[in-house]
Amino acid sequence: DLCLRHKLGCAEKQRRNGNRMKSEILSLLRESENYVSGQELCGRFQVSRTAVWKVINQLKEAGYEIEAVQNKGYRLLTSPDILEEYELKSRIHTEWAGREIHYKEETGSTNIDIKNLAEAGAPHGTLAVAGKQINGRGRRGHGWESPAGEAIFMSLLVRPDFPPDRASMITLLMGLSVAQAVTRLTGLEAGIKWPNDVVVNKRKICGILTEMSTEAEYIQYLVIGVGINVNNESFPEEIRDVATSLWLESGKPGKKFSRALLIQYVMEAFEKNYGLFLETEDLSRLTEPYNALLVNRDAQVKVLDPKGEYTGVARGIDRKGNLLVEREDGKVMNVYSGEVSVRGLYGYV
Ligand code: BTN
Repeated sequence: DLCLRHKLGCAEKQRRNGNRMKSEILSLLRESENYVSGQELCGRFQVSRTAVWKVINQLKEAGYEIEAVQNKGYRLLTSPDILEEYELKSRIHTEWAGREIHYKEETGSTNIDIKNLAEAGAPHGTLAVAGKQINGRGRRGHGWESPAGEAIFMSLLVRPDFPPDRASMITLLMGLSVAQAVTRLTGLEAGIKWPNDVVVNKRKICGILTEMSTEAEYIQYLVIGVGINVNNESFPEEIRDVATSLWLESGKPGKKFSRALLIQYVMEAFEKNYGLFLETEDLSRLTEPYNALLVNRDAQVKVLDPKGEYTGVARGIDRKGNLLVEREDGKVMNVYSGEVSVRGLYGYV
């Protein structure tokens, strides 16, 4: 029959159908405050009760706690901390950010994965997620520590209509979105170290690496790579003083955070902030929330300008995302995030 002749194709098709059912069943269970009846699920997917029961069992095997009560149906009690496509899809109900998801348990770098997907025509908002990266990349040629199972490694594809000089603003926008999402998930006070490191208690919990493909005067696409330290229990010696994780800062040893839920919150925040950005094609509508979270606001900073270093007091960003630094002589400098970095005079922040 067809399936035998196209053995691989059929297996792939079955896997996809299985994943679609898993994600839709999870969505329905999450949406409903109450039990969802087996009958409702059967009707929804036009499959037998046994087929539904089979998928429920697969979900239980994957670590979901699902209660089944006769004459009532199924109820989702807890979800495991996994990043499978069906788990993420069941949560992310945005219009475009993270609507299409590609998950790999292990990859080189999700930024490279997204570039490949972009070249193959993937749509605006496609998200690549990995459980572990072999060759995680940081800014300025650094690597990015990418251990399995504890953190988030993801890259978002953005296909904008605005000119390349706006690209660095989108990176700031992601920093803001991550900070907002972290506070929503954990209640921790997340701040931003300009331009886009997210910090908790003065230590870094998130780094962002944006890469751009341009043609002539316009952007073909942007890749926004985001690494978030979620449940990491420790860090290598070299970065121990500057890095931390949400779990370490939460002070609740027994409670690990759901990475999938945090990804959902980041996508929701990013989509909203991106909409506000598009209204003016700059950060006019976002300088206020951004500056409210800026940890180096009113702090002494050293500006590492290639044309000459200087010190001053950081006063916040302007609508282009430049950091305004007031020098001792009273002159206010506009520091451009694309080229210049800023250090705290007394440590990382
Ligand atoms: C930084 O140096 O602060 C930026 C780190 C960015 C790391 C993320 S993890 C997901 C994506 N893939 C990569 O290889 N890098 C980014």
